[in-house]
Amino acid sequence: MKIILVGYMGSGKSSIGQQLATRLNYTFKDLDTAIESSEGANVTTIFSEKGEIYFRKKENTVLKELISSSENIVLATGGGTPCYGNVMELLLSEEDCVTVYLKGSVAVLTDRLFLEKEKRPLISHLETKELLNDFIRKHLFERSYYYNQASLKVDIDDASIEGIVEA
Ligand code: S3P
Repeated sequence: MKIILVGYMGSGKSSIGQQLATRLNYTFKDLDTAIESSEGANVTTIFSEKGEIYFRKKENTVLKELISSSENIVLATGGGTPCYGNVMELLLSEEDCVTVYLKGSVAVLTDRLFLEKEKRPLISHLETKELLNDFIRKHLFERSYYYNQASLKVDIDDASIEGIVEA
């Protein structure tokens, strides 16, 4: 079985994924980390040296490798993973994959991401909270089309990590 966590940057896919994997005795995998190991460079460097299109192709390839294993895994995807290259369609067609959307509001995601935007190339240039908020509102609106196709949805705004893992 594969539990695939999708959702916007800052929605807690990695921290929740780790705890969920421990709880289920599954192996935890993080897609960004797997891409970084395969490239020998971090996400920011890949974006700046090779560009976003290269990153998206790599993301798609590494995702397919990870879901082709026979292991039980909890996989934290990147915020853009389900929005490119028919990924949502692929995940929904895999019999042993369950997709879960960790759904956060624009306000909560803005508060969280303002404190940790530096390692995220898509938002690191947004200097003020207002600019970040405006960007996230539009970007999340576009991406929600993909996230909302997930089999399960869990609201993260007022929930603890333990509560989300339980849900
Ligand atoms: C991205 C999200 C990031 C990372 C890259 C692009 C996106 O992952 O894959 O910076 O397009 O939303 P997180 O969601 O783990 O921050």
